Amino acid sequence: MIKFDNVTKKYGQSVVLDNISFEIKEGEFAVLIGPSGCGKTTTLRTINRLIEPDGGKVSINGKDITKVNPVELRRTIGYVIQQIGLFPNMTVEQNISIVPKLLKYPKEQCREITRELLNLVNMPYEENAHKYPSELSGGQQQRIGVLRALAASPPIVLMDEPFGALDPITRETLQEEVKRIQKKLKKTIVFVTHDMDEALKMADTIVFMNGGKILQMASPEEMLQNPADPLISGFMGKHGGALNVKLTAGDFMRTRVLKAPRSNQTLQSVELMRNRDVNSLVVVNDDDTYAGTVSLEAIKAYGKAGKEIGEIMTAEAPVVNRNEDAQETFEKLYTSPTGYVIVLNDDQTVAGLITKTSMAKAMGQALWGEMTS
Ligand SMILES: Nc1ncnc2c1ncn2[C@@H]1O[C@H](COP(=O)(O)OP(=O)(O)O)[C@@H](O)[C@H]1O
Ligand SMILES: [Mg+2]
Repeated sequence: MIKFDNVTKKYGQSVVLDNISFEIKEGEFAVLIGPSGCGKTTTLRTINRLIEPDGGKVSINGKDITKVNPVELRRTIGYVIQQIGLFPNMTVEQNISIVPKLLKYPKEQCREITRELLNLVNMPYEENAHKYPSELSGGQQQRIGVLRALAASPPIVLMDEPFGALDPITRETLQEEVKRIQKKLKKTIVFVTHDMDEALKMADTIVFMNGGKILQMASPEEMLQNPADPLISGFMGKHGGALNVKLTAGDFMRTRVLKAPRSNQTLQSVELMRNRDVNSLVVVNDDDTYAGTVSLEAIKAYGKAGKEIGEIMTAEAPVVNRNEDAQETFEKLYTSPTGYVIVLNDDQTVAGLITKTSMAKAMGQALWGEMTS
């Protein structure tokens, strides 16, 4: 839908957009993010020709936008900025109807549009249409700014840090409203922010820029999992907790596990445990699938020399799949009679083992980063 081909913009000697190419699909919510001065606003304003590039091509639906009259073009592209820009001497209805009026829509249709849009953000027409901007809260004013951009049903809406000046709670509400409206009206949105939390929450696709270049373009999940550059990880680091990453048993297990076949003799097994300084081992079947566990204690109590451990092993240790939810796993760990939980792969082979120590270590790592031991 929106396509950049090798777009370059310079101011004197300084290259502000450095040969960027990317594509935003129809109905997509794309978020441009990156440090201050990296070229986000410039990229955005290139789309509605408020800025003309020095090189390359921007096209919308396959059509080179330099071939479209800029005024015509801007009628199909809504634009929302941080400094709201509502006209103070016009009512809410008049502000929302500016573009429909320019397009000479009949008065009745303008009213209908206003009514519908106000409904979208739970600001009933009767109560709000005739107010002046000064009678509204900051959040309400910004809502009207968003509605005004939507009034002529443009297929594309550009938003440049639209919620930057709002308090966190109002901001969050507006983020949810805009996301909901975008899905309902199926708009293509290009949204600029420098807040990764906001990007992760809103975006279908995040375009990460630095120094006029694109460092990475990916879905929020992909960018969280595989940030392409340390700068991106840095941005994520501060906000990574924003997205609920599902932790599983596999994230907390110790993978070095002492295993032995059923046929192992008791004496031999005691030796193994002593050498590894552990007091139990995992017994496996011939095909390496999990069979049970046997403790040093049990061998001492029941294991005559020469007996096979397969005969005295037990299945009392709780068993979980490696994809089991972490919280469920913890509950099993805390009620485990053996003090540990066995983690299995899908094919029933042993993936690892969770003890209170391995769990504490993994939690520490998640909270404070890599630990040395
Ligand atoms: N009209 C201009 N003249 C000269 N330099 C500009 C102009 N507009 C923007 N710049 C510079 O271009 C770079 C990118 O600006 P901008 O796109 O506004 O960044 P962002 O929105 O990512 O903060 C900045 O270094 C900025 O100072
Ligand atoms: Mg900017």
